[in-house]
Amino acid sequence: MKTDFLIIGSGIAGLRAAIELSKHGKVLIVSKDKSFESSSSYAQGGIAVVIADDDSTQQHVDDTLNAGAGLCNKKAVEVLVKDGPSQVQQLITWGVRFDRDNGEFLVGLEGAHSRRRILHFKDSTGSEIVRILRKKALESRNIKKLSKQFVIDLVIRENICTGAIMLDEDSGKVYRISAKAVIITTGGAGQLYHRTTNPSGATGDGIAAAYRAGAVLSDMEFVQFHPTTFALPGVSSFLITEALRGEGAILRNSEKKRFMQNYHSLAELAPRDELSRAIIKEIKKSSTDHVLLDATHINPSLLKERFPATYNSCLRHNVDITKEMIPVSPAAHFMIGGIKTDTWGRTTIDGFFAAGEVAFTGVHGANRLASNSLLEGLVFGARTGIAMAEYAGSVNIIDIPLHKAGLRGIKVNNKSERVSHSTSHSTSKINSIRENLKKVMWNNAGIIRTGASLEEAGKIIDMLTQEISNHGLTRKELELANMLHAGGLIVSSAIKRQESVGAHYREDFPEWSGKKRHIRIQKSKMSPPY
Ligand code: SIN
Repeated sequence: MKTDFLIIGSGIAGLRAAIELSKHGKVLIVSKDKSFESSSSYAQGGIAVVIADDDSTQQHVDDTLNAGAGLCNKKAVEVLVKDGPSQVQQLITWGVRFDRDNGEFLVGLEGAHSRRRILHFKDSTGSEIVRILRKKALESRNIKKLSKQFVIDLVIRENICTGAIMLDEDSGKVYRISAKAVIITTGGAGQLYHRTTNPSGATGDGIAAAYRAGAVLSDMEFVQFHPTTFALPGVSSFLITEALRGEGAILRNSEKKRFMQNYHSLAELAPRDELSRAIIKEIKKSSTDHVLLDATHINPSLLKERFPATYNSCLRHNVDITKEMIPVSPAAHFMIGGIKTDTWGRTTIDGFFAAGEVAFTGVHGANRLASNSLLEGLVFGARTGIAMAEYAGSVNIIDIPLHKAGLRGIKVNNKSERVSHSTSHSTSKINSIRENLKKVMWNNAGIIRTGASLEEAGKIIDMLTQEISNHGLTRKELELANMLHAGGLIVSSAIKRQESVGAHYREDFPEWSGKKRHIRIQKSKMSPPY
């Protein structure tokens, strides 16, 4: 298959890039899930943008830098904040709805923001933005979308990306897509952890493929945990938006006592890393596995009107948030590190771009400011589209012989390029390795880590990887291989960062060194594919 631009992933960054690229050539969006499912659609709180009269670009930049705990790339932060208002205005022109009162936008408050600046559509902002971007993208004759297509690997020759090797999930066939430029926008890797807010597809596929291709990754040790996710035994954790705390909800421990004021001057609106650690400490002191989020003092009509998704999700599990406190505990939420890019989405490989959660521009530093992630996808998705179009202007589509593409032992018939593959491992074995990985990442490479816990995690991941060596080319097996791969990268980066800063907390090195440094990783040409 051939296209001018290949977009891998269909969240806000991928869709926004696609709309930009459709002005310049044929665009193919591939996603592994049937619908347009992505973490973007799950984002509840909103999109942070300077819009209120009492706000300023400088204020939003400063809040982002402060939350980032000294590790942000200031230039990337300035791009994000300055491009934000015009990109959001464009969304409104295309039809995105944000809540208003008498025609005026309602702006919410979230943790570590010094001003109200979160535009929202009730508590379903992400899905509202994705709805319109998808509509806009599919209106274009230049954009095609294929679902249930899994990216096995990128095709690279002499540090130039010329396409990707794909698995068609339904037929089990493997084939190649050639393109002038390729962008990965596959989001994060929350599924590596026992508790997560991320959808089931967040298995680190983009990170793993980029690493195997030889791209530089940065700061993989920074995984952001969302402090308040629903916590009842037997129920998969789901997000309880930070905006609820912005409207006054309070955290209480097992004795129903408010505790956050003992940990941080901003109390419930402290940065997420501080909240998550405080909650874990309170849980450890008690005999329960959660703390309580109390919204019962907030006007019930406001709760139902502003947070209908949260209200209904909790009610499904017999918690009426207008009358009862919500059991909450932290869960893996956002991958701060990722594929290193400049502020135009350019990676260290020509023709290969990345944007959104999967990318590392340095915009989040050591800890992402709430509701900056939808803005990141939007701003850097659009900019990367511009950069890809410019790059493609100077290249042709190249079909290189596949045996030269450095593929990891995949049997692809060079004539037809379509060979069916079957599974090598039973579903129960795959599921059991996946569960073991999620537990070890949670226990050993989670909110609080030590050198010893990380070393142990590394050994277990190596063992689990051995167990599925020679795996088949099915989605489940490829996903698991990517998860193990991404897990290993998080652990090895966390071992290297012998200090505590932002979302990376090492009990054996509890202080920050004060030095702004990044942990970069790149596959050596000699190392095996896994
Ligand atoms: C939330 O609504 O709390 C999540 C939004 C975000 O992660 O920025």
